[in-house]
Amino acid sequence: MIRLSQLTKEYQDGLPILFQIDLHIRRGEFVYLTGRSGAGKSTLLKLLFAQEKPTSGELVVGGMELHSMKRAELPYFRRKIGVVYQDFKLLPRRSVYENVAFALEVIGRPPREIKQKVGKILREVNLLHCSEQLPELLSGGEKQRVAIARALVHEPWLLLADEPTGNLDPALAREIMELFDRANKGGTTILLATHDLDLLQYGGRSRRILEVKAGSVCEFKDDHDNLFPTPPLESIDDTE
Ligand SMILES: Nc1ncnc2c1ncn2[C@@H]1O[C@H](COP(=O)(O)OP(=O)(O)O)[C@@H](O)[C@H]1O
Ligand SMILES: [Mg+2]
Repeated sequence: MIRLSQLTKEYQDGLPILFQIDLHIRRGEFVYLTGRSGAGKSTLLKLLFAQEKPTSGELVVGGMELHSMKRAELPYFRRKIGVVYQDFKLLPRRSVYENVAFALEVIGRPPREIKQKVGKILREVNLLHCSEQLPELLSGGEKQRVAIARALVHEPWLLLADEPTGNLDPALAREIMELFDRANKGGTTILLATHDLDLLQYGGRSRRILEVKAGSVCEFKDDHDNLFPTPPLESIDDTE
């Protein structure tokens, strides 16, 4: 559960990027966050990951009040969250396996559990065969699959993805979206920021699309009909 109440974020005094936002995201939702470059999508995700602090207002994520959270509580808070970035952010000198295992090492999981969980998730993203490789030898799509495996291996309840397909061509983007889909079906709440309107069509109408615009966050309803056009009547097959 995510709840923002009257949340304002300024980087510079008097210049709010987000202004008095009220927003509620339920557990298990898959929500897209769209808006033009510079609108504040990444800022919103950083607030949710407690990388940035709200200037004013309240922000509750997974039952924790981030607006008043102490630094010492941060690692505990982040334990149940996964993050995926456009530029992958893999550790260049560690193997694929080590990159994913790292997410469990930092939260102190025992070696046997790490081995089992990393093996399982690498199989799921279809990368078991490159476990021992360094990231630089992988393609963009493969790198992002490693990053997703790392973000999911600790079974987070919330996954934050910031332009995760921004460096990938449409076919690879689709592959990545399928992985998010699977995680969401498994119960992970997903918040995915993208300025790519084509990506919003993935998953159909059922998903909420929010737009960050001029400091506010609103439902992206107006363009729904353009994104999901109603088929012309003559193309509907009613012979059955
Ligand atoms: N650390 C920062 N310090 C000052 N300004 C920032 C900082 N991060 C982002 N901004 C500004 O906040 C605005 C929103 O940025 P961002 O959240 O990255 O937008 P988006 O992800 O939608 O492209 C931009 O004008 C950006 O320049
Ligand atoms: Mg951004």
